[in-house]
Amino acid sequence: MRRLVRKSIENLIPYPPGKPLEELQRESGIVGAIKLASNENPLGPSPKAIMAIKENLNNIQRYPDGSCYDLRQKLAKKFRLPMSRIIVGNGSDEIIGLIVYTFLSPDEEVILPTPTFLLYEKVVEGFGGKIVTAPLRDFSIDLPAILKAVTPETKIIFINNPNNPTGKALKKEELSDFLCSLPPDVIVVLDEAYIEFATDPKVGSAVELLESYPLLVVLRTFSKAYGLAGLRIGYGFASELMIESMNRIRQPFNANYLAQVGALAALDDDEFVEETLTVIRDGLESLYSQLDRIGLKYLTTQTNFFLIKTPLGAEETYRRMLREGVIVRPMESFGLNDYIRISVGLPEENERFIKTLEKILS
Ligand SMILES: Cc1ncc(COP(=O)(O)O)c(C=O)c1O
Repeated sequence: MRRLVRKSIENLIPYPPGKPLEELQRESGIVGAIKLASNENPLGPSPKAIMAIKENLNNIQRYPDGSCYDLRQKLAKKFRLPMSRIIVGNGSDEIIGLIVYTFLSPDEEVILPTPTFLLYEKVVEGFGGKIVTAPLRDFSIDLPAILKAVTPETKIIFINNPNNPTGKALKKEELSDFLCSLPPDVIVVLDEAYIEFATDPKVGSAVELLESYPLLVVLRTFSKAYGLAGLRIGYGFASELMIESMNRIRQPFNANYLAQVGALAALDDDEFVEETLTVIRDGLESLYSQLDRIGLKYLTTQTNFFLIKTPLGAEETYRRMLREGVIVRPMESFGLNDYIRISVGLPEENERFIKTLEKILS
């Protein structure tokens, strides 16, 4: 009999998202829980975005501008790139899919540092591409190991900088040397979902490297520093040819109307982004010092989340924290069985996290 489900999808395990608060309430009746599991903005959405969305609610009977003209124009100005080199997606997640569906042929190779953001693997595997892994070194992306893994079949390399889930970042100079060492027909995707949070001045965006490496794609999102994860809007930079190719298969109205309106306003909300960065930096400082006091190991981060090593193991820690109404992310699915990942919250959320952690460990 003919196969119903494509072979590459048959054994695919769905992407495991952080548990939503509503689901916890539905399943366990726990109210007043806090979620520190999906690296969202603890301050909420950009106030300018909220205001713009409220003002434009009356227009949602219309289809959005499929070309995202205004948003691309504003991004073009901000990043000093032509509009023709910008694509907007239903979250940067969508653009990750578009890259794979546009450029990869089944059986071509994709190099993934591991562990990294799980979506790359899901998309490539589901599509039928061949994954080649390059393990991290001391929790950081190992560029020499990636170079060693390159073969004539290598088509795409995904690099998340800073890397989810380890929070470690590559320096701009390392990246530039790496790109120059690659064969010229390899596509490099630099996913910078968390780049706004990086505090090390040597860590920089690869946007400036776009000129010297024609097959570079840089991805950004409004989901983290701008607090618009629920709207689903992200963007990418690449060569005109690559953008034009992805546009051929992109859904015509992929970025919804309110998302475009919100993103456009959020780009002007420097005050909110600054406040976000302060909350994250202060939160990290306080969490690190509390963990030092408790005596738990953790990884310092360049992002708004970080890994904590737990003596109970990831799953047990996650379950015990969940019963207390604190949602964290167990790291088994990333192959880090002794680690949980937490996102930095508001001061009171961080405090509750620490108190709960001490309680479940005692
Ligand atoms: C590394 C990385 N890239 C992309 C995304 C997805 O971003 P978006 O909400 O824009 O789809 C995430 C979300 O957690 C992420 O961690």
